[in-house]
Amino acid sequence: MIINKIVKLKRILNDAVSKNKTIGLVPTMGFLHEGHLSLIRKAKKENELIVVSIFVNPTQFGPEEDFGTYPRNIKSDTKLAIEAGADIIFNPSVNEMYPEDSSTWVNVEGDITTILCGVSRPTHFKGVTTVVNMLFNIVEPNKAYFGQKDAQQVAVLTKMTKDLHLNVELVICPIIREVDGVALSSRNTYLNKDERKQASILYKSLQMALDAFRNGQNSVDELETLIKNQISTMHLAEIDYVNIRSFPSLNKIKDVKGRALAAVAVKFGKTRLIDNVILEKKK
Ligand code: PAJ
Repeated sequence: MIINKIVKLKRILNDAVSKNKTIGLVPTMGFLHEGHLSLIRKAKKENELIVVSIFVNPTQFGPEEDFGTYPRNIKSDTKLAIEAGADIIFNPSVNEMYPEDSSTWVNVEGDITTILCGVSRPTHFKGVTTVVNMLFNIVEPNKAYFGQKDAQQVAVLTKMTKDLHLNVELVICPIIREVDGVALSSRNTYLNKDERKQASILYKSLQMALDAFRNGQNSVDELETLIKNQISTMHLAEIDYVNIRSFPSLNKIKDVKGRALAAVAVKFGKTRLIDNVILEKKK
């Protein structure tokens, strides 16, 4: 069932809650792939009613970014989401979510939103936290599902949930990849053949850093240099950042002790790809 209006969605959800059904929410911007579907399948296992939101959120795009051209296909998305276990597809218009007089923001302040992707996308996380907070208020899910693919988004949303004492459990799901290691992303469709081929260096370089770490290399400088050198072997790759931080606090560290996030953002032509691995010893 596709629903466009908040009032209607709330009516259906109130009815489900009155029957003691648990609600799982999977927020997406659509153009669904196996990464999104893995979240929906996991939600299906853990909840009785699954809401998948499909909303290309304008406030998380910068003025020079791809809001207008972001890929959309609600018809095939609906089919895929339902096959994966969605009960309700919430697909509101921009005006439904942001009426003309809307002027309230949810913003997580501090380094966590200004480092990594926050450097080149200074208003991005404010848009994400605002829309996700809206979705939490509209759906009031027991659990909400997010991908580790967007590790900084996970860190920021974890902090928002804690800071605002929100009554929802965030479930973080592993990154789904193509056979050559490239993380699935709606933006991969922008890559030409050569760019797509060279994009596999992101995961390869991160895996090399993970191997080096597991073989005793703890130095953040050394590990970051290893990743940068590897990525630079691809002539179409233009590094935005390579950064190792504690996770999920994203604090600066000199040495990796325990668990850390190795995150990269790299441009291939006009397309900016992100990827990451968690550096941790084998269990
Ligand atoms: P979107 O990019 O559509 O991603 C929706 C969810 O799918 C996010 O939690 C993302 O981390 C997850 N995801 C994307 N690619 C994945 C992959 N290869 N493996 C596993 N999970 C993956 O992230 C957003 O939308 C938006 O910022 C949103 C949270 C919906 C707010 O507008």
